Amino acid sequence: MYPLRRNRRLRTSETIRSLVRETILSPKDFLVPLFVVEGKGIKEEIASMPNYYRYSLDLLAHEVKELASLGLSSVLLFVKVPEKLKDNTGKEALNAEGLMQRAIKTVKDAVPDMLVMTDVALDPYSQFGHDGIVSEGSIVNDDTNAVLAEMALSHAKAGADFVAPSDMMDGRIFEIRSLLEDEGFHDTGIMSYSAKYASAFYGPFRDALDSAPVNLQHVPKDKQTYQMDPANRKEAIKETLMDIQEGADIVMVKPGLCYLDIVRDIREAVDVPVAVYQVSGEYAMVKAAAQKGWLDHDAVMLEQLTAIKRAGAHVIASYFAKDVVKLLS
Ligand code: PBG
Repeated sequence: MYPLRRNRRLRTSETIRSLVRETILSPKDFLVPLFVVEGKGIKEEIASMPNYYRYSLDLLAHEVKELASLGLSSVLLFVKVPEKLKDNTGKEALNAEGLMQRAIKTVKDAVPDMLVMTDVALDPYSQFGHDGIVSEGSIVNDDTNAVLAEMALSHAKAGADFVAPSDMMDGRIFEIRSLLEDEGFHDTGIMSYSAKYASAFYGPFRDALDSAPVNLQHVPKDKQTYQMDPANRKEAIKETLMDIQEGADIVMVKPGLCYLDIVRDIREAVDVPVAVYQVSGEYAMVKAAAQKGWLDHDAVMLEQLTAIKRAGAHVIASYFAKDVVKLLS
């Protein structure tokens, strides 16, 4: 014991600290969420997400080239759908010439090696702002799954490498996997949002896509009947194991920082890669505090992302991806 063992010896210089460091962030850890809009020459900042933008397809091409030059090689696409194309059943989501389908091709044309993942859920397409079809005050599970499977197929046909269902309907992974297999898309992967909590941290994202649940009498005002209760831990394992049985290649925990106990639980319970989504509200809090001069932006960002990886994340979806990669280089 002491003084034979002095723990501080391993902390005496940055050289020794970096030699024994257990968790090291690399550009290859990151999945970059991207928001896409119709139009030309558009790069508009999202009010509640400082320094984060929606891109029209022409500028999306520039952006993914820049990401590639920074060593970032995977993106997760979301689209902001014009209001007039929204309905209750997500018809526009299946349009082979829709914004998502064109965005997939745009990314692949700009950087053929870029891994393209796509969001699969109805909320950006829903007039009610829900991830599924609304009927008599509730979200219909099985009819929604049929649309989600068609939506995933449409993304696969457009060239997506992975589809990422973020809706939390029961059985959707099975429906999507089955349709992809039937149609010959054996190599199109599924990254399932397996343990997705009904979180208040998604606020800025809903601003970005204008996708918040609407305030109408026969429309549920929140997503608590499908997203998970933040109080639950066992349920996360149940959800995740079922998704793997149904064919998920990568599973996800979302949000990040408040759920690192869940990340560790899942990492230990499964034999597939685990993704963590550090969500919009987590990003916004750091940006806001840094703007006020209350926190050191870069140090807090690095600490949070390191903690997410240390907890067990193989893949980190983060709006900080570009910032952190620039800092690391
Ligand atoms: C919706 C979806 C959400 C996010 C990703 N996909 C929001 C929600 O469930 O309401 C949130 C991402 C973020 O906050 O960064 N299917």
